[in-house]
Amino acid sequence: MTAPRKIIIDTDPGQDDAVAILLALASPDLEVLGITAVAGNVPLQLTARNARVVCELAGRPDIRVFAGCDRPMTRKLVTAEYVHGKTGLDGITLPDPTMPLQDQSAVDFIIDTLRALPEGAVTLCPLGPLTNIATAFARAPDIIPRVAEIVLMGGAYFEVGNVTPAAEFNIYVDPEAAQIVFRSGVPLVVMPLDVTHKVLTTRPRVEAFRALGTRVGHAVASWTDFFERYDMAKYGSQGAPLHDPCVIAYLLRPDLFQGRHVNVEIETQSDLTRGMTVADWWRVTDRPANAMLMGSVDAEGFYTLLTDRIARL
Ligand code: RIB
Ligand code: CA
Repeated sequence: MTAPRKIIIDTDPGQDDAVAILLALASPDLEVLGITAVAGNVPLQLTARNARVVCELAGRPDIRVFAGCDRPMTRKLVTAEYVHGKTGLDGITLPDPTMPLQDQSAVDFIIDTLRALPEGAVTLCPLGPLTNIATAFARAPDIIPRVAEIVLMGGAYFEVGNVTPAAEFNIYVDPEAAQIVFRSGVPLVVMPLDVTHKVLTTRPRVEAFRALGTRVGHAVASWTDFFERYDMAKYGSQGAPLHDPCVIAYLLRPDLFQGRHVNVEIETQSDLTRGMTVADWWRVTDRPANAMLMGSVDAEGFYTLLTDRIARL
């Protein structure tokens, strides 16, 4: 077996972030070097708490969790309690974490880790606004060529936005950060709503989590029962998109996803289209391709992988 892939998960838990973290911790193919919390779905104090709640649920109090930026680089924080609930992990009440938050800031952890490990050794997996990543890049540009790849959940193109008609939440919250990341030159794999809206938490899929008969399976089913209500009402769909686990699933089974290597730029000037991911899907410009923008996924294969791995916890 090849050595586990070293990753840093940057996250704003959020029920779907929580499922992504569980998938990573259940997979020996991955070595989670640390989890860096960022303000997004709920404020930083809660995302830093929730990340530790998930680690303890997975029986992994050894995982180092770091607190990062508590607001976007230049804008006011926009949160999403209307989707995730007041705690960010509504759906089930889990005990407050006893594992400590690391003293080091998330941004310093990202910088130090990339400097300490060989070039190309670390993959960054952002699941929320890109504030921590962009702040690290701005503070220490020398780390940028050291990043192996960034596999992120964010953006929307054919599926259009979920927080405005033009923008997906993670990019909308901090468009300036997203612009830094998308212009960094680091190889990007992007999981936009175009893909995440094809992995819906249908009843059989949620019941499969519950049928595991484990604490983790029960928590995942309870989270999805809560998390899906907003999107099902909004889209009239048979379930909600399970966005963030697509990032980790890609690391484990890239063959589940298909996309196109194109140029993606971020709108930062207009109020109307702030945070839009403008993808040159038909290559009508000479802007260089900077992102593998995913467009389709084997949803059954995704849920089989997810359920099989969650069963191990
Ligand atoms: O738009 C969906 C994204 O925003 C997901 O990452 C969800 O957790 C929220 O952060
Ligand atoms: Ca998220």
